[in-house]
Amino acid sequence: MCGIIGYVGSEKISNSVLIAGLHALEYRGYDSAGLALAQNDQVTIIKAKGNVSFLEEKLEKMNTKGTTLGIAHTRWATHGEPNETNSHPHQSGLVTLVHNGIIENYNTIKEELENAGYDFYSQTDSEIAAAYIDYCYFLTKDKVSALTKAYQHFKGSFAFAIIFQDELDVIYAMRKNSPLVLGVGEHQNFLASDISAFLKYTNQYIVLEHEEIAVLHKNQITIQNLNGDLLDKEIQTSEMDITDIQKGGYEHFMLKEIHEEPDVVKKTIDSLMQNNLLDLLNTMPNLKQYDQIHIIACGSAMYAGMIAKSLIESRARIHVDCICASEYRYANPIYTGNTLAIFISQSGETADTIAALQLAKANDVATLAIVNVIGSTIARDADHVIYTKAGPEICVATTKAYCTQVAVLSLLACYLSYVHGHMQDDEVMQLSKEIKTLPKLMQQLIEKDYSAFAKKIYQHNDVFFIGRGLDYSLSMEGSLKLKEISYIHSEAYAAGELKHGTISLIEEGTPVIALASDEDLYEKTISNIKEVKARGAYVLLIISDDLQIAHDGYDDILRIPKTDKLIQAILGVIPLQLLAYEIARLRGCEIDQPRNLAKSVTVE
Ligand code: F6R
Repeated sequence: MCGIIGYVGSEKISNSVLIAGLHALEYRGYDSAGLALAQNDQVTIIKAKGNVSFLEEKLEKMNTKGTTLGIAHTRWATHGEPNETNSHPHQSGLVTLVHNGIIENYNTIKEELENAGYDFYSQTDSEIAAAYIDYCYFLTKDKVSALTKAYQHFKGSFAFAIIFQDELDVIYAMRKNSPLVLGVGEHQNFLASDISAFLKYTNQYIVLEHEEIAVLHKNQITIQNLNGDLLDKEIQTSEMDITDIQKGGYEHFMLKEIHEEPDVVKKTIDSLMQNNLLDLLNTMPNLKQYDQIHIIACGSAMYAGMIAKSLIESRARIHVDCICASEYRYANPIYTGNTLAIFISQSGETADTIAALQLAKANDVATLAIVNVIGSTIARDADHVIYTKAGPEICVATTKAYCTQVAVLSLLACYLSYVHGHMQDDEVMQLSKEIKTLPKLMQQLIEKDYSAFAKKIYQHNDVFFIGRGLDYSLSMEGSLKLKEISYIHSEAYAAGELKHGTISLIEEGTPVIALASDEDLYEKTISNIKEVKARGAYVLLIISDDLQIAHDGYDDILRIPKTDKLIQAILGVIPLQLLAYEIARLRGCEIDQPRNLAKSVTVE
C-alpha cells in the first residue's frame, strides 16, 4: 500500500505538485503523510499524522522558497504504528527515501547494519532500506552500483524514490512488485505510484519495470538495467482525463462513482458486445474446453465472483468454486486438468490475488483476469485478460468497478451457457435486447431517494441483510458496503439460515434488509421475513417490481425493475450502495476514506 510521488523541475512548483499528487494517491493509504524537499543544499523533512490535509496545513506555515525537488509519501501502516516517527520520508546517512512495499528480510539486514554501526529511530523496514542503501553507497562510492546492490539484496516488494544529500537535483527510483511510473514533462519530471498523481502536469509516462533503475533530472530521465546497460524506453500517453479524478461537483467520490455506473457498465458491455451476445464468440477468449472454474478474488471482487458462481453453475452447468485469494493461495487447490482460474481485481495489484494467480500458473492452469487497471500486474501476468471499463475509482469502497465486474461476469455466464448449448439463439436475441436497456434502468434506480430509509437505520448498531441465491451474494456486498463506510456492524445471511442461530440477535427494531428479486425463491424469502418481523425487526424489502407481496410482509418497500436473472444483480446492487452511502453520510463518516483501509491492498 502507500502512495509515493517525486518531482524535479522548476522553482516554486514542487510543493503544490507534491501535495496535489499525494491527494490523488490518498486512496492508497492515509494514516500519515510526509515529504522531503531539497532546499538550499539541505533536505527538509515534514511529516504529519493523519491524512494529507494535516501535512498540507503544516507546509503552509513554512517557507519553501527555492524548492525544486521533492519526494513525498502517504502511508498505510504495515510496520510500526501510524505516528510521525514511522512516517516517511526516512533518512539514514546521505540517503532520504520514500517507500511503498515491504522489505521482508529487514530483520537480517538490520543486524548486518547494526554490526556496521548504524542506529535506528523507527520501527519501519523502510528506514532499514534507507540505511542499507547508504551503506552500499559508502562501500561502492557510486549511486547506481549502490542501488543495484540493494536491489539484489532486498526481498519482498518495493517502489522507492531516493535522494542523496550530495546530489540534490536528482531523484533515483527503482521498483519490484510495487507500481511506479515516471511522468515526462517539459523541464520537469515526475514519478509516482500511479499516473493520476501527476496527470495535471503531464500525460506522458514511462512504466518502470522490475530490475530497472531510473535517474530523474529536471531535463532528462535515464533508465538502466541492473547490468548497467542504458535502456531506450517507450514514452506512452495516458488516455485518462483529469476530470476522471476530480469530484466534479459531487460531495463525495463515492456518489460521483455511483452516478457513473450506467455509463461505465455501458462502456464495458460495448467493449464485448457491439450488436448482440453472439459477438462474445469473438470478443471472449475461447473457454469452451474447461470443465471446472475457480474464481479467486478479495472483498467485493470476490462477492462479484459469488454472483458468477450462481449464474455459471445454474445456466452453463459448469462447476465453479469461488474462493477468497488469501485462503486459496495456501489451500493446495485441486485441479482437474481442465480447470480455468479466473481472477477478479479492480486494481490488479492485490497481493493475495497476485499470489493466487502465481499458484495457478505454477500448476499450469489456464488463467483469465478481469481487471480494471490497464497494465497492472494481474492483467499482465494472466493468460487472458478482460478489462472492465470503470475508469479510475478513487473512493476506497468500490462501487462502479464492482458493477462492471458483475457486468463482465454476467456476459461470461451468457457466453458459457451458449457455447455449452444451454442457451438457444432466440434467448440470446431476447437477452441482448434486455442488456441494452440496463443503463436506463440503472439510471432510474440511481435517481430514487434513499434518505427516508437511511434515517430509519443510521442510529442502529447492527444491521442484517438476507436473501437467497443471487440475492444472498448481493446481500454480502450490501453488508460489506455498509460496514466499511458507516462502521455499523452488519452481517449477510442466506435467508433460510438465519433461524439456525443468528435470529437470536433480532430484537425490537433491528433493521433487516431483505432482498427478494428472484421469482423462483422470493416466496421462501418472504417466509423468512415473517420470522424476523414476528420478532420485532424493521424490514426494508427490496423486491422486483413484478412480484406481489402483502402489506404486512414488510415495513418499507423498494422496487427494482425486473430483468432476466442473468443481469439482475447489476441493478440489485445500486440501492444497497446508495443506502450505505446515505447512512454513512447521516453518521458523518469519512465516506471516501474509511478508517484503517486502503484501496489497493498490496500486502498479504
Ligand atoms: C470493498 C473493496 C475491497 C476490494 C478488495 C479487492 O469496497 O473495495 O473489498 O474489492 O480489496 O481489491 P481489488 O479489486 O483491487 O483486487
